[in-house]
Amino acid sequence: MDFKYDISAAIANVISVDVNDILNSIEIPPDKKMGDYAFPCFKLAKILKKPPVDIANDILEKIVKPNFVKSIDIKGAYINFFADKSFFVKEVLLKANDKDYGKSDIGKGKTVVIDYSSPNIAKPFHVGHLRSTVIGNALYKIYNAIGYNCVGVNHLGDWGTQFGKLISAYKKWGSKESIEKNGISELMKIYVKFHDEAEIDPSLNDEARGWFVKMQNGDSEALKLWKWFYDLSIKEFERVYNMLGVKFDAYTGESFYNDKMDAVVEELKNKELLKKSNGAMIVELDDLDMPPCLIIRSDGGTLYATRDIAAAIYRKKTYDFDKCLYVTAIDQNLHFAQLFAVIKKMGYDWADNMEHVPFGLVSLESGKLSTRHGNVVLMEELLKEAIDETKRIIDEKNPELPDKENVAKQVGIGAVIFNDLYNGRIKDVVFSWKRMLNFDGETGPYVQYTNARACSIIKKAGEIDFSKADYSFVSDEAAFETCKVLNDFGKKLIDAANKNEPSILSRYLVELSQAFNKFYHDNPILVDDISAKAARVEIVKAVNNVLTKGLNIIGVSAPERM
Ligand code: ARG
Repeated sequence: MDFKYDISAAIANVISVDVNDILNSIEIPPDKKMGDYAFPCFKLAKILKKPPVDIANDILEKIVKPNFVKSIDIKGAYINFFADKSFFVKEVLLKANDKDYGKSDIGKGKTVVIDYSSPNIAKPFHVGHLRSTVIGNALYKIYNAIGYNCVGVNHLGDWGTQFGKLISAYKKWGSKESIEKNGISELMKIYVKFHDEAEIDPSLNDEARGWFVKMQNGDSEALKLWKWFYDLSIKEFERVYNMLGVKFDAYTGESFYNDKMDAVVEELKNKELLKKSNGAMIVELDDLDMPPCLIIRSDGGTLYATRDIAAAIYRKKTYDFDKCLYVTAIDQNLHFAQLFAVIKKMGYDWADNMEHVPFGLVSLESGKLSTRHGNVVLMEELLKEAIDETKRIIDEKNPELPDKENVAKQVGIGAVIFNDLYNGRIKDVVFSWKRMLNFDGETGPYVQYTNARACSIIKKAGEIDFSKADYSFVSDEAAFETCKVLNDFGKKLIDAANKNEPSILSRYLVELSQAFNKFYHDNPILVDDISAKAARVEIVKAVNNVLTKGLNIIGVSAPERM
């Protein structure tokens, strides 16, 4: 049921104007006395060559009233539509309590590949990767809800000259025991030392390059060390993924393409796209006002871009995607513009189906975060701190809460995720515990708390015979508004997918929570009159259904008590 659309269609039926042109002009009057929807006829005056007031009268005379419209009247050149609130509420509640509510099959038979998180091994998983992880995970679930087949890919940064450096560093200063004990942070330490030492003695760089060449050629010692660094990195990353509840369908990182690169270079050569430039090999892109894309370095090594070309071709072959999304920070804009341009020049039209989904930076309210390692805030520590902060709040507000530890985890981590997804992704995210954990703000905990409130009402209500519901008890403004918002769920999911913008959903959940809290404030729910109680509890159940689904889709848990 799409109010605006149905009204537009009814109007379009009686005049010869396209329904979409009418749809764009439908307004929601600021004053409810002017109706729930209004259509101004001014624009039609030009097309129909008649005064707008006459057009309004014409339409009123001929229009067939949609069944949810109670009455229609005219004020000047405005046609005002008054909704039959109980009819509408009943219709919405019937759907909104369905277990599949919101789902659609727009994406049926289509595949979307989503490349997200993609941290670099042997380096800490820092807050910068948080954004890619939570945005990508939310997009995965949004596309899934509208019927797409989704493939989540973790394109790990696990190949390149830096691993030659790491092997050199390990050979010189590494200790097996302390790496086994301290993992990535120990690898970081020797890697940083390598850089310092190489400033004094540049020959170290040649040695490192030598190790990387060995890696590329399949040398067993080099690969054994690399695999060790890889495994212990993944172990640490998976701790974070488990905390966030994030999964991937494939861990095909850059190393996966090592044996697929020659074919790419060959293909570029055959298609006469490769040019020599100062000993390196490039694809020129000046016709597109872009700097050239570097394919092979002068020392023979391949690059990030080379591996991305191989990955794109592999993904198309393997998954035959209809869309391939890359969720990374905005500073990789040029890289992806170049990548897509090269693929297009190779003659692949599906380059148009690849899309960079960029996002803004993460900044930290200075001094608020306790642990820093050389300016990178580690994800795991940040999440732990969120949980601790939440525990403090629960101890203060609701010390008797059962299963406190678990709820603190769900709320603390949920707050971090929600905070990341609340603003348009291109905006920078600021970490402020006070704002993120404010139970009354536009936050994850606020939505979770509203949902927990709904759960507790449902529990208290006990067994209810919904066939007794009388919807005239839920035709007040707040109930009606709540149902209007409920009615939008499916549309919001589609809109979020079309724009690759999870914030559309997070904001929607806040809007629904606010509407529901007003309804809850205005109406006693567990009343004696069974027909009133049934209708009102039905709203509570629908809100609970949509909030739970919506939170899960953006990757946030929905505790029943908090
Ligand atoms: N590893 C990269 C980074 O941390 C992100 C990779 C994104 N995906 C891709 N296919 N390039 O910046």
